[in-house]
Amino acid sequence: MPATLTAIAPKVEYTSDNFQRYYEEAGPDYAAWSPHFNMHFGFFRSCMNPFNREAMLEQMNREVLDRLQTSSDHPRILDMGCGLGATLRSFARRLPTADLHGITLVHWQLEQGRLLNQSTPQSTNITLNLGNYEHTAYPSESFDAICAIESSCYSAGRSKSRLIREAYRLLRPGGRFVVADGFLGAGKLRGLQQSIYRKLCDCWVIEDLGEIHAFTRELQRAGFTEIAIEQIQSRVTPSVLHVPWVTLKFLLTSVIFGQRKMTRARWNNILAPILLPFVGHPIGPLAYYIVSATRT
Ligand SMILES: C[S@@+](CC[C@H](N)C(=O)[O-])C[C@H]1O[C@@H](n2cnc3c(N)ncnc32)[C@H](O)[C@@H]1O
Repeated sequence: MPATLTAIAPKVEYTSDNFQRYYEEAGPDYAAWSPHFNMHFGFFRSCMNPFNREAMLEQMNREVLDRLQTSSDHPRILDMGCGLGATLRSFARRLPTADLHGITLVHWQLEQGRLLNQSTPQSTNITLNLGNYEHTAYPSESFDAICAIESSCYSAGRSKSRLIREAYRLLRPGGRFVVADGFLGAGKLRGLQQSIYRKLCDCWVIEDLGEIHAFTRELQRAGFTEIAIEQIQSRVTPSVLHVPWVTLKFLLTSVIFGQRKMTRARWNNILAPILLPFVGHPIGPLAYYIVSATRT
């Protein structure tokens, strides 16, 4: 690891404690990215204004919902790794009679998410729970559709087999599974890029990102069919380009004049998106994908 990178952000091992600390300390800072707490990148369509970040973040929720292909009037949908529930609130606006569930590992997110739901009309059909999406307490075949937006990366290993197996167990036959996330694709990480990649994972307290071919092979092995892999880096890039501006604004308002102490987790949350372009497509093998599949 180059000394400069180590000096900026010392290594953070992936442990459950570090994960909790990261999200509890850096969690409120996501408000600088999205006032609605969409804790993900956006999806750009040509008719959209690329300067309107929140609209692109919201569009990502819409794209995922479209691919879930819910046809019944009262679909039961689970968001695995729901953050503060922004995606579910977006779904609730479009599907007012759906039964919406979210699961997160972070207590702070659960509390804040419930508060946001209470203050948002049309969110009465959302239930947020604390738990591990790799081993949930929900009954088998109890959901029509399951999504995971920028949360699959936290599951163990490069094939994310535990997340996939649990999603398969929870879906009814014919149910849909849609994952939007960064994955390692074609090409290898070498030298400095490998160090930057490791630093990026440490900053976001991720053990290892998924590898797109290992992930889709695992979907097949679990019994999913109709697997569609969409590399959507060009759709996501307009929102990634907001990172320098959001970072600068955040440094001025929250770091220089802010009241909360800057912790290592908070610094890491600033550094990670800055590192992203150095390992991301087209320079590196990391790219953003939406993967959709149907349970047999
Ligand atoms: C980057 S946030 C994305 C949140 C949300 N999907 C969104 O787009 O706004 C990652 C989320 O994954 C959740 N997560 C990570 N590992 C998890 C696990 N094993 N079980 C449940 N949630 C998990 C975190 O708690 C966090 O809510």
